[in-house]
Amino acid sequence: MFQTGLVTLLLGRSDVAAAVDIGAVLDLLAAGFRTPVAEPAPLRIRTDLPGPGTATCLMPGLLPDVPAYTVKVNAKFPAAVPALRGVVCLHSLADGELLALLDSASVTAWRTGLAAALATHTLADPEAHTLGFVGAGAQAATTLAGLRHLRRWSRVVATDLDPARAAALPAEVVSSPASVAAAADVVVLATWSREPLLGRADVRAGQHLTSLGADEPGKRELAADLLAASRLIVDDVDLALSGGALGSAGLTADACAGTLGAVLRGELPAVAPQSVYSPVGLPWQDLALCWAVYQQAVGAGAGTRVDLLG
Ligand SMILES: NC(=O)c1ccc[n+]([C@@H]2O[C@H](COP(=O)([O-])OP(=O)(O)OC[C@H]3O[C@@H](n4cnc5c(N)ncnc54)[C@H](O)[C@@H]3O)[C@@H](O)[C@H]2O)c1
Repeated sequence: MFQTGLVTLLLGRSDVAAAVDIGAVLDLLAAGFRTPVAEPAPLRIRTDLPGPGTATCLMPGLLPDVPAYTVKVNAKFPAAVPALRGVVCLHSLADGELLALLDSASVTAWRTGLAAALATHTLADPEAHTLGFVGAGAQAATTLAGLRHLRRWSRVVATDLDPARAAALPAEVVSSPASVAAAADVVVLATWSREPLLGRADVRAGQHLTSLGADEPGKRELAADLLAASRLIVDDVDLALSGGALGSAGLTADACAGTLGAVLRGELPAVAPQSVYSPVGLPWQDLALCWAVYQQAVGAGAGTRVDLLG
């Protein structure tokens, strides 16, 4: 299965995009979420930098039955395009051989967007067919691609500090987060906000919200009163407390109903009168995407081969 001759496959943005099979990745992500959390616990290391950016490292990405692991190194600069840059190293679990180096902006956007789509489709009322976005950048675009794969939407609206981005999603542009919540049964937030963009008064029974931007300490998209009044599902309770929606809103673990994994394993009901999903993003999700893309690229002869030890 592995390449011989210690060759590393370089997979850039267009290589990753060409190799993403949305249905296959959604299946791998669903299987990953259903797997009970294994040791070693996932590490998300983050540090401020002098200036406007942060440095993050997520490792190790591990999944049962996948003979490889990932280490992801990201630069996060909110004002840059793309805002995330870096590499994901895909290594053999047997001997550490570096199988591939993948563009992490693409890997992160696809794995986040498709995992968010899976969660949103699972937790939202099956009869909900209007969709809205607050923030129309990289994560929003891949979430929309995944949600279009999973469900028919009769209307898609969006707001962004840059209205041209909302239009390019593509979506009908509206003026504010509250207008998105008024127009859509399902709302996805993917911004860099450090202040709540929606509170309890902005939402109604039957709505589902997925908040992707509360993934680092101090980042907030939903007010504490809204989170407390909703059935809150996360991807990892400890990480939601230390660096995600719970901790940044000053809430405790009691405010959280459980994990998406528990829902997909049937331990918790899927649909609630009003629900929120707020993940921080886990290393195994990088592996799910990278492994699927790597196998597809090897089969297609795609990417650039380099010998870093040559
Ligand atoms: N939870 C996860 O698993 C996960 C994974 C990756 C990224 N993220 C987070 O998702 C967020 C979006 O990342 P991205 O790569 O899409 O960034 P991006 O810069 O590509 O897009 C963000 C968009 O939000 C808009 N925006 C910012 N603040 C806004 C506000 N107050 N109201 C309306 N629009 C606003 C920006 O104009 C931009 O178009 C970031 O906070 C990032 O850290 C979360």
